[in-house]
Amino acid sequence: MNIDSKIGVIGAGAMGSGIAQIAATAGHSVYLCDSSNEALSGSKAKLQKVMDRLVEKGKVNSTAAKELQERISYVENTGCFADCDLVIEAIVENIEVKKSVFNELETIVSEDCILASNTSSLSVASIAAACKNSERVMGIHFFNPAPLMPLVEIIPAVQTDEKNLSPIIELMKSWGKAPVLAKDTPGFIVNRIARPFYGEAIRILEEGIADYATIDWALKNKGGFRMGPFELMDFIGNDINYKVTETVFEQFFYDPRYRPSFTQKRMVEAGRLGRKTGRGYYSYKEGDTAPKPNEDNEICEEIFWRILVMLINEAVDALYLHIASKEDIDLAMTKGVNYPKGLLSWADEIGLKKCLDKLDKLQAEYGEDRYRASLLLRKMVSKGEKFFE
Ligand code: NAI
Repeated sequence: MNIDSKIGVIGAGAMGSGIAQIAATAGHSVYLCDSSNEALSGSKAKLQKVMDRLVEKGKVNSTAAKELQERISYVENTGCFADCDLVIEAIVENIEVKKSVFNELETIVSEDCILASNTSSLSVASIAAACKNSERVMGIHFFNPAPLMPLVEIIPAVQTDEKNLSPIIELMKSWGKAPVLAKDTPGFIVNRIARPFYGEAIRILEEGIADYATIDWALKNKGGFRMGPFELMDFIGNDINYKVTETVFEQFFYDPRYRPSFTQKRMVEAGRLGRKTGRGYYSYKEGDTAPKPNEDNEICEEIFWRILVMLINEAVDALYLHIASKEDIDLAMTKGVNYPKGLLSWADEIGLKKCLDKLDKLQAEYGEDRYRASLLLRKMVSKGEKFFE
């Protein structure tokens, strides 16, 4: 693939619009298709606004901005995908709808065209199974907002022909992205490893150890995270975050480590979705101020270590189960969710024995499978090994 490769994007919502913008910025001709005319005009207007702002800030000159926008054709049917080299699907997260769209796409595109889904939680194998030539199907998972977040998870399905991977990896690099390879398992890399950041924070809240403002403060102050878990859930939307947790939990055959919480479920039911509804854990109404955290050092340490070792444990377990390479696991968490350090490097820095001791202490105290340490962590501690030299 090269700059002359034509890119098709189906679904002109938040993600599809962002992906179209990235491809057009890289110089490709893009067809952005949506079944809703309103979505298409909304997408076009939004891009116009983004480009106006970039021109205003002097980041792009007005001719380049105009040319970029002209490279995107907004279309209501997929007929023009016939000459595309890659089509990325970013429609509603529903397996039946995605399958029928992939099935139909195959009747339009050329034999060599690669078909990709931006799904965040569905199995790529089941989407690929809707195609006769399922060897050309893979997941290309961008992060929101796509033009700003560098990470892209590339997910081959069991059916994907390996020869189709390197052109896509190279293409993503040429788009300025940081591609990582992930196994087709629930949550891929980021949405799997990040679960305890939310789940353990909510558990700490439910146990009454600290309030949400204190938990956020601990993670930012002690851990160097840009946002605390509750601020981040409010930012993502509690509905979306809850759905991801629920899906990961179900798809992991109800592994208790990923169990969703009543706290977040009730927030969703109450319509406290976060920033987008003006109220989540925090209130975003003008004039309202956030509650003050309890800046007690001991509580701060307890919260930080508990969440960090749970995150490290997930990262180690993902490596143990060959979800991705150690380099890609660390890259994914820093480039996909802005963690201050890669979790495996962080574990090396802390000392693997210290991480394991903390997990074993939690498991002994709680007696819950949720806190079981990854076998890889245990094995590495017994051999005195580190992840990186
Ligand atoms: P969205 O709801 O903003 O946009 C979806 C668009 O698809 C809508 O404009 C809708 O009209 C269109 N659409 C639905 N069915 C269609 C069809 N059959 N043919 C053509 N267009 C159709 O959704 P969003 O947030 O952009 O998500 C899209 C995909 O990306 C989903 O699979 C989601 O899981 C995934 N994703 C979402 C992220 C997020 O943070 N929003 C992050 C990463 C992946």
